[in-house]
Amino acid sequence: MTADGKIAGRSRRQLRISSPEDLKRVKELRTASDTILVGVGTVLADDPHLTVKGLSPEENPLRVVLDPNGRTPDEARVLDGRAGTIIVTNERCSRTWKRCRVLRAGTDRIDLESMLSSLYDQGVRSLMVEGGGETIFSFFEQGLVDRYLVFVGSMVVGGRGSPTPADGAGLPEERTVRLRLAGCERLGDGVLLTYEVGDGRA
Ligand SMILES: NC(=O)c1ccc[n+]([C@@H]2O[C@H](COP(=O)([O-])OP(=O)(O)OC[C@H]3O[C@@H](n4cnc5c(N)ncnc54)[C@H](OP(=O)(O)O)[C@@H]3O)[C@@H](O)[C@H]2O)c1
Repeated sequence: MTADGKIAGRSRRQLRISSPEDLKRVKELRTASDTILVGVGTVLADDPHLTVKGLSPEENPLRVVLDPNGRTPDEARVLDGRAGTIIVTNERCSRTWKRCRVLRAGTDRIDLESMLSSLYDQGVRSLMVEGGGETIFSFFEQGLVDRYLVFVGSMVVGGRGSPTPADGAGLPEERTVRLRLAGCERLGDGVLLTYEVGDGRA
């Protein structure tokens, strides 16, 4: 995020916030994860590949898109065959895509615990939630975050509507998620903060 706490600007298009040192760290983190997950908002805004350069489709982490209503376009880069992909929809959605598997979880919103349990049954042991703000918030809201890593880049973009790392409806003040600061590291012209979350709830 930027120094004013935004993960993109007011147009919601992708903003390069990471320093070169942080990009290297993200590459290492992706490589070490079984799975990289984003919400469909990020697919529509950024059209990311979510792959690691130099890794084969077999070596790349599995890509997962939270897409309750099946809005991922057929031509989205997450469907480019460079890695396996699962699109998670709700049980009312009947859409299928050619180049990915589909998981149905939850009748309206996605039941994240049921999704995680299905992924676990398929061998997934680590999952990195890369964004965006609605998606990260829903993992915090349901107490499903073990570690929260945030790089703070030295720039300000502003905008009351610009997305932040945890958007969504927000939590009632008595349910604030308490974090423990486990690390603080300078990475080029920015800082990486590592937090542990415990059981995920205050
Ligand atoms: N700086 C960074 O590192 C970074 C990383 C990623 C993204 N971004 C930025 O983040 C922005 C996109 O964020 P966003 O918050 O708009 O979108 P998002 O979190 O990527 O996706 C939100 C959508 O995902 C679905 N979703 C998420 N959690 C769900 C749940 N628990 N159950 C059911 N559906 C769920 C919903 O789809 P429906 O609307 O269909 O219900 C929701 O509207 C873009 O501006 C992008 O550039 C920045």
